[in-house]
Amino acid sequence: MRGLSESIIEAQDLVKIYKKSKVPAIDGLTLRIKRGGIFTLLGRNGAGKTTFLRIATTQLLPTSGTMKVFGLDVVKDPKRIRRRIAITPQEGRPLFTLNARDHIALSLMMRGATREEANAKTEPLLKTLDLENVGKVHSEELSGGLRQRILIAMTIVCDVELMFLDEPTIGLDPVGRRKVWDELIRLKNEEGRTIVLTTHYMDEAESLSDDLAIIDRGHVLAKGNPREVKERNVGPKTRVDVSQGFTLEELSSYGRTIKAGNLLRVFTSDEVASEISREALRRKVPISISPVTLDDVFVELVGSGIEQAEESEPVEEPKEREEPQRGMVMK
Ligand SMILES: Nc1ncnc2c1ncn2[C@@H]1O[C@H](COP(=O)(O)OP(=O)(O)OP(=O)(O)O)[C@@H](O)[C@H]1O
Ligand SMILES: [Mg+2]
Repeated sequence: MRGLSESIIEAQDLVKIYKKSKVPAIDGLTLRIKRGGIFTLLGRNGAGKTTFLRIATTQLLPTSGTMKVFGLDVVKDPKRIRRRIAITPQEGRPLFTLNARDHIALSLMMRGATREEANAKTEPLLKTLDLENVGKVHSEELSGGLRQRILIAMTIVCDVELMFLDEPTIGLDPVGRRKVWDELIRLKNEEGRTIVLTTHYMDEAESLSDDLAIIDRGHVLAKGNPREVKERNVGPKTRVDVSQGFTLEELSSYGRTIKAGNLLRVFTSDEVASEISREALRRKVPISISPVTLDDVFVELVGSGIEQAEESEPVEEPKEREEPQRGMVMK
């Protein structure tokens, strides 16, 4: 009997140093992802998210440490893991001369479905992801966002326990993003799937994640559900946005203040926010008061990180394992 909080992925002291790179992409990372639910990996560009996913999906070998998926070792047991997972890789691309219908059906047939079974599952998904009208159009003629939806469809259509989606909603319009969110939530709730995703959209992470981890330079900085991560990592619970009528110096006396685009943002307590509000009223300037978001926590935690490890040369990694990329499922 599977316990409620049984781990589906366990990484222990995981290290990945790419060839010719002195800086570890994954640097002693220990992380447990529980079965069922949506787990999101967050981190700046170059933090190690894709590297983590590629090790978990047995496309890349770790340098040291261990990673287990379904309790199986990614190095010793890759084939048994691959049968039970599906992946949407970062920057995947559908095959140009196939249409959306073909892609989704192919994804299923590669896993042993008959043409009829594949068609039966393809049609409803085309509708769900708003691909119905372009189902027969070659993917080379589709927009970037529509191509991205094909890649997502190819993964979620597979009847697997564990799915990995590396920045799945990149390039999707706000309506498309929400459709994908709804479908991921449905798969989690109705089919009990475990979904591991990465995103740079903090609102997406906040809306979707049961649990998340913020990683930086290959190790975990914060982990928990979005509420816990916010509570543990930013002292003040309230932020005040001011666009005019106050100087940075004035606002800094109320709490930590940052410049956010055209706004000055003060992190502070509810009481001090009320104080600023009274002063703003007196000066007749508008302000906006809201709870801190995951975005604030992210900037606070990793704002000073680097996007590209300095010593790391942009080299091609020799393929340690030849695996299908570009959105194709693995068998
Ligand atoms: N094939 C490779 N060869 C050498 N270094 C690599 C290779 N792939 C990634 N790296 C390096 O490993 C580190 C982590 O990269 P990774 O792609 O895992 O980051 P990421 O968190 O997915 O970033 P992004 O948000 O930009 O997708 C970076 O410093 C990157 O330059
Ligand atoms: Mg990445």
